[in-house]
Amino acid sequence: MRSLLPTAVTSLLQVCFAADAADWRSRSIYQVLTDRFSWTDGSTTAPCDVANNMYCGGTWKGLENKLEYIKNMGFTAVWISPITEQVANAYHGYYQTDLYLVNSRFGTAEDLKSLASTLHSKGMYLMVDIVPNHMAFPGCPDKVDYGHLGTFNHPDHFHSYCPMHNMENQTEVEDCWLGDCSMTLPDIKTENTQVAGEMNTWVKTLVSDYSIDGLRIDSVKNVNKDFFPPFCQSAGVFCMGEVSEGEANYTYPYQSYMDSVLDYPLYYAVTRVFQQQSNMSDLVVGLAACTENGEMGCKDPTLLGTFFENHDNPRFAHTTQDLSLVKNALAFTLLGDGIPIVYQGQEQHYAGGDDPGCREALWLSGFNTTSPLYKHIALLNNLRNHIAAHRSTYLGYQTRVLAYTATELQLRKDTIRIILSNQGEKAPTWTLKTQGMEFESGKTVVDVLSCAKYGVDGNGDADVQMEAGEPVVLVDESALGGSSLCGY
Ligand SMILES: *[C@@H]1O[C@H](CO)[C@@H](O)[C@H](O)[C@H]1NC(C)=O
Ligand SMILES: *[C@@H]1O[C@H](CO)[C@@H](O)[C@H](O)[C@H]1NC(C)=O
Ligand SMILES: *[C@@H]1O[C@H](CO)[C@@H](O)[C@H](O)[C@H]1NC(C)=O
Ligand SMILES: *[C@@H]1O[C@H](CO)[C@@H](O)[C@H](O)[C@H]1NC(C)=O
Repeated sequence: MRSLLPTAVTSLLQVCFAADAADWRSRSIYQVLTDRFSWTDGSTTAPCDVANNMYCGGTWKGLENKLEYIKNMGFTAVWISPITEQVANAYHGYYQTDLYLVNSRFGTAEDLKSLASTLHSKGMYLMVDIVPNHMAFPGCPDKVDYGHLGTFNHPDHFHSYCPMHNMENQTEVEDCWLGDCSMTLPDIKTENTQVAGEMNTWVKTLVSDYSIDGLRIDSVKNVNKDFFPPFCQSAGVFCMGEVSEGEANYTYPYQSYMDSVLDYPLYYAVTRVFQQQSNMSDLVVGLAACTENGEMGCKDPTLLGTFFENHDNPRFAHTTQDLSLVKNALAFTLLGDGIPIVYQGQEQHYAGGDDPGCREALWLSGFNTTSPLYKHIALLNNLRNHIAAHRSTYLGYQTRVLAYTATELQLRKDTIRIILSNQGEKAPTWTLKTQGMEFESGKTVVDVLSCAKYGVDGNGDADVQMEAGEPVVLVDESALGGSSLCGY
């Protein structure tokens, strides 16, 4: 692990070695929408009306200046918006016009290199969002000006136009075009050998020019699967794909073509269980879908990207302001099997609805580091970072379900036991008798979230205080030494 090496050696290694899946397993990712995170001057008052769908002024420099805000929450990687040149007003970065030019609204190529270098000096990774599926043109499909699409400047580089009608037809999903006459997204012919070769060259150059440690790949289901193994190999770094489908047997098999996918199936289960307070069994079924489905399941749950908010979906708090429910969802996400991802604004309990509502400017929160969820996330990340650094078995351990009712779920991930509740903050205080925890009898375990201590009984279990529907995270106190959690 390069973070354990002296700085001089570290910077040499960064030139030679890129971060792979094993390096990423221990990471915790903070998702930044570059235009909406921080101005270069650090303004906390610059207006940003999400409904306008226009640039609000965030930059790579602004982000670089505010990395301590992210690092102090315990994150060890930052995912940023696509960096390529865009059509006018494409503040989100998904409407690119030239792969080899950077989006000047976010800064210069030097600014981006400087961001990467400052992240690395803090022991953090840079993940960049990329869009191999399409280019963009602000007009109808028959009017596309191919001469201005950089490398892919000829109709032969694209599938011939067809509108996407039937999302159940995978051929259509891969070969037809997204968008409409207000924004056409010409669909790159990624199964063509020459086009794929150009793409592979581009991604290799991109990763090396900007010292990128990992990629988040957009619209993966719209690209032929076979495109990805050589592409990710050319990139030489960790690849996490966006397959925005809740069906486990559709989404998880993509993990055979790249290191990781965003865990959309689990996203829907987490949302149902904690936001809509559905039966906890829903989450138990969701967990099993990954590991018990053979070829239709996932390859490695410890590499999936686990999340419950992003820039494409309504935020959790859009439906409920209940703090206990969101704290449970965060405990599940940050202490589960995958690589956790938290989207900017979750720590400030932002409540925006469907895109573009969920794309609020973070600076308007004043970068508040004392908000309850900022502190909750910091605590959970610190625990995960501490245990991962001290127990070699932790990250590879697959979460086991110990017991559950409709409203409580008891889980074990190696040395950590988690009790989740979806009763919400109005729930009364009560005592839960744990089941199957297998702690050492006679020892003392600590709820890291409340710092309450419990003695372990002869069966290896404990009587635990459940308060106001808050989650409980139990660890033997001997595992906390040097963590500074609860005074240890
Ligand atoms: C799927 O779409 C392709 C392309 O439009 C078409 O040729 C094919 O017949 C469709 N398949 C089915 C089963 O509808
Ligand atoms: C995927 O799972 C759904 C139910 O969740 C089922 O209806 C469908 O047949 C499955 N598809 C495959 C290819 O196994
Ligand atoms: C930060 O958040 C806390 C808790 O919500 C609040 O009490 C405090 O006033 C906020 N600080 C600023 C500077 O807004
Ligand atoms: C919750 O789900 C479990 C397992 O499917 C079921 O046995 C139980 O009756 C459900 N409880 C409620 C309150 O719906």
